[in-house]
Amino acid sequence: MKVLVIGSGGREHAIAWKLSQSRVVDKIYCAPGNAGIAEIAECVEVESKDLSSLLDFVKYEWIDLTVVGPEEPLARGIVDIFQKEGRKIIGPTKAGAQLESSKVFAKEFMKRHKIPTAEYKVFTSYTHAEEYIRLKGTPIVIKADGLAAGKGVFVCEKYEEATEALRLIMKEKIFGAAGEKVVIEECLKGKEVSYLVFTDGKNILPMVTSKDHKRLLDDDEGPNTGGMGTLSPNPIITAELEKEILNTVIKPTIKGLREEGIIYRGILYAGLMIVDNKPYVLEFNCRFGDPETQVILPRLETDLLDIFMAVWEGKLNKIEVKWKNDASLCVILASAGYPGKYKKGFPIKGLEMIKGIKDIVVFHAGTKFNEKGEIVTNGGRVLGVTAIGKDIAEARQKAYGAIDLIKFEGMQYRKDIGLNV
Ligand code: AMP
Ligand code: GLY
Repeated sequence: MKVLVIGSGGREHAIAWKLSQSRVVDKIYCAPGNAGIAEIAECVEVESKDLSSLLDFVKYEWIDLTVVGPEEPLARGIVDIFQKEGRKIIGPTKAGAQLESSKVFAKEFMKRHKIPTAEYKVFTSYTHAEEYIRLKGTPIVIKADGLAAGKGVFVCEKYEEATEALRLIMKEKIFGAAGEKVVIEECLKGKEVSYLVFTDGKNILPMVTSKDHKRLLDDDEGPNTGGMGTLSPNPIITAELEKEILNTVIKPTIKGLREEGIIYRGILYAGLMIVDNKPYVLEFNCRFGDPETQVILPRLETDLLDIFMAVWEGKLNKIEVKWKNDASLCVILASAGYPGKYKKGFPIKGLEMIKGIKDIVVFHAGTKFNEKGEIVTNGGRVLGVTAIGKDIAEARQKAYGAIDLIKFEGMQYRKDIGLNV
């Protein structure tokens, strides 16, 4: 089979890497891909938002299956377009993707279906929003309604921070139309869990659990980022809590969507806060997480293509999935300045030394080849170093051991992933 993976990050590298081990996949393409993906797939220069060129490519190359990495093509309706043309594609339709592309839609949906989440109100007027913040007090959380590349959420400890967030979203319009509405919600204190499942719209197949580290610096200090490291399994999830997550969040979500006429096929990712042993939804994503995928897929033993085909065919109940008992851990190596402005084009040293080391895999995110053929930095998050071990401590030791071999100018990373768990 020929498979196209859409996207260019560490998540897409992990998807392509797992698919490259499939017994049925003959050829992988990636649009647009990166320098690491280029080792296992043919990278094609089509941007992931350019839906009509992607469709043309799929027709021209006789691609059998397309897997969508990032949210944007899903929110733009790539699945609707491909399905209309009879092309197999993994991901929800535009209507289903609203769970991620509109926080207002997601909150109202959760209210309709009694899915636990923080108390909230929606505002389109700055004055009313500001009055509400004064009434409620801090801490409080302000969210732009639409997609904002993971930057649209402000957890505000002080009144001034909250009004500043409102000003940026509603007056300066830093997220454009994505900030026309804001959700203001209660601030939940607890432990965060990323819970991902495959679903065919009816059947649910949970993935192993994971934990993201969103803040830039050790001890969860500094600004929010796309994610600076992950580990799996998430040690706080007990069998009992997992049952609670499935029964109060995942199943009602898939069922609620179906009742509203949306057959949600693909990956559903619930970002949860666990408060007093109960899950509350912070956000839904309609795709694999990045960098969660970099710890989840290395633990998967089953052929990923078989799972995708079962999702497409509505036969997830027929497939038996095996996961490794080992733990995995991923540390993100980022450019100096990330998540703010950063420079690109610095050569990355040491990658050759890591190749072939058992239990280590380096997933590329922002990398490319320069004109001399060297691999250079090309983004904020540059690499994700994943290690597998018998437990988190062993995986941590292996991952940081491998990181000692890698160097690029301005490289920054968290030193505390997997510490104290
Ligand atoms: P989101 O993109 O909605 O997951 O938000 C990004 C991050 O903001 C989350 O991972 C949490 O750390 C934090 N966050 C979001 N909503 C809340 C909330 N209601 N209470 C506390 N923290 C939150
Ligand atoms: N790691 C967070 C996300 O993928 O949205």
